[in-house]
Parts: sequence; C-alpha cells; structure tokens
Amino acid sequence: MELKGAIFTTAVLATLLCSPALAQKSPPAPASVALPPTMAPAPAPAPDYVDLAALLGVAGPFHTFLSYLQKTNVIETFQRQANKTKEGITIFVPKDSAFAALKKSTFSNLTSDQLKTLLLYHAFPEFYSLAQFRNLSVLNPVNTFAGAPYTLNLTDDMGTISVKSMWSKPTISSSVYATDPVAVYSLNKVLLPMQIFTKDPPLAPAPAPAPESGASDLAPSPGGKAGAGKGKADSTSAAYGIGVGAVNCLLAAGGLMMLLW
Ligand SMILES: *[C@@H]1O[C@H](CO)[C@@H](O)[C@H](O)[C@H]1NC(C)=O
Ligand SMILES: *[C@@H]1O[C@H](CO)[C@@H](O)[C@H](O)[C@H]1NC(C)=O
Ligand SMILES: *[C@@H]1O[C@H](CO)[C@@H](O)[C@H](O)[C@H]1NC(C)=O
Ligand SMILES: *[C@@H]1O[C@H](CO)[C@@H](O)[C@H](O)[C@H]1NC(C)=O
Repeated sequence: MELKGAIFTTAVLATLLCSPALAQKSPPAPASVALPPTMAPAPAPAPDYVDLAALLGVAGPFHTFLSYLQKTNVIETFQRQANKTKEGITIFVPKDSAFAALKKSTFSNLTSDQLKTLLLYHAFPEFYSLAQFRNLSVLNPVNTFAGAPYTLNLTDDMGTISVKSMWSKPTISSSVYATDPVAVYSLNKVLLPMQIFTKDPPLAPAPAPAPESGASDLAPSPGGKAGAGKGKADSTSAAYGIGVGAVNCLLAAGGLMMLLW
C-alpha cells in the first residue's frame, strides 16, 4: 500500500533526522516517532513547567545554593510556587563563589529553621522581570518569601540593579532565566538579613578581597535607559533545548508527511 509506504518512509526519515537530539540517553530509536499521523501539526505550547533543580543544576555554578535547597526541602516550596503560573516566583541565586567568600561556620552555625528562612529570603513569591524591578524599587522595602520582617530593598544605579539586605548589597550579575512565571537571577553575594545575622558575618580569609566601591546608596536613579540588565536569558536550561528539539522533529516529520502525500 502506498500510504503505508509513505508513513514508513516518513518514520525512517524522521528517525534519522531526529536521532541526534533524542538519542542522548536512549540509543534505540524511540518508537514514539511513528505517531499516528495528524494532518495539522499541533501548535507547540510554550513549556510553562520549569524544573528548578534541573535549571540550577546546569546553570551557575550554583551547587552550594542548590544543595542547601535540597537539604532543607525548600526546593519543594520553590517548585510548588513556580508551578503557580499566575503568580510565579523570582529567585536570587548566589553563585558558589559568593558562599565561598564567607566563613563556613556562618552557615553551619545556623539552626535548620534559620537556614530555611535564609533560603526563602532569597525569593519573591511572584515573577518579576528585570524591567519591573525599576518600578518595584518604589515599594521598598519589599517582602520576601520568608515573610513579613524579612525584606529586601531594590536599587537601580544607572542600570545596575542591587538587592540590599542588612549586611550585603549584591548586584544582579546575570539573568539566568526570565520567562513568566519563573525568574532566576544570579547574585555575586549572599543575602544576609539582620534577623538571622545579628552582626556582620566574617569573611573567609580570601586571597585578595576586592575593595567595595563606596558607591552612594542615596544617588537618585535617573531613570536613564543605560544598559538595563545584562541580556535577557543568557543561559536557558539545556533541558529545554532537548524539548524544543523534539518538537522540531515532530514538525519536520509533519512536513515530510505533507511532501510525501
Ligand atoms: C510541578 O509541576 C510538575 C509538572 O506538572 C509536576 O511534575 C511536579 O510534581 C510539580 N511540583 C510541585 C512541587 O508541585
Ligand atoms: C559558630 O559557632 C562557633 C562555636 O560556637 C563560634 O566560635 C563561631 O564564632 C560561630 N561562627 C559564626 C560565624 O557565628
Ligand atoms: C512601571 O510603572 C509605570 C508607571 O506606573 C508603567 O507605565 C510601566 O508600564 C511600569 N513598567 C513595568 C515594567 O511594569
Ligand atoms: C529599605 O528601604 C526603607 C525605605 O526606604 C528604609 O527605611 C530601610 O532602612 C531600608 N533597609 C535597608 C536594609 O536598607
């Protein structure tokens, strides 16, 4: 039968075309390629489920923050919030180097409740794009996921956005992921609220600590359009690359079907 032949050819071609993307972990060509042929290729829905652990695992490096999230199970709380597509979540993730700059005892001395609160302090239970921070700074202090007394102040110094806690004022060094409902921004320092750290936590004996540029916090932000943030989503999770690849394959297969029809 001609039709069967066409379908078979399509399946074989699609398998050949798609296997580099799909074969990553499953060497035998997946049977799923031979899907029942639908004439109209379904419009690819934007993936609104973001696997935070997977995202943080490939970006960064954010291993320290991720391991604390997993140890305390706060990752579950964050993921549940990320799944709420109406509200979403904004997470400030300090890089491994930010944790390394502080003495180990800074964190090992914390009770598990304090550690949980500290992690929740690094997030807003709502999605904010970098552009929205400009408006958000009018609302300082802004409540975090940790609840009422745990607030952050956002400042925008000519396009450099800082997140101010009592003992640290990290800047957003990059936007790791920023697609509603999930925003993940990388910080160069850990946020240190006064409710947990009654005094400025000591730094680890660093090789050569860069001196703080004593920039004035009081400088009014001129609302210039100068260099807002550094790129919208410089490193999107590799996991999505695979997902998108699969969708492209299906579309390609659909296209082939049409040709061979
Ligand atoms: C979030 O959504 C995904 C996909 O629907 C689901 O597999 C996962 O269990 C959800 N996680 C939480 C913590 O709600
Ligand atoms: C952690 O606890 C130890 C022992 O109680 C203490 O000597 C040390 O100063 C504490 N470190 C911090 C950063 O609070
Ligand atoms: C910021 O606020 C102004 C005035 O209220 C509004 O026009 C603008 O759309 C807001 N920008 C963002 C990114 O929310
Ligand atoms: C945050 O901003 C508010 C209002 O401007 C101010 O009262 C508060 O002291 C600031 N907090 C920090 C930690 O800078």
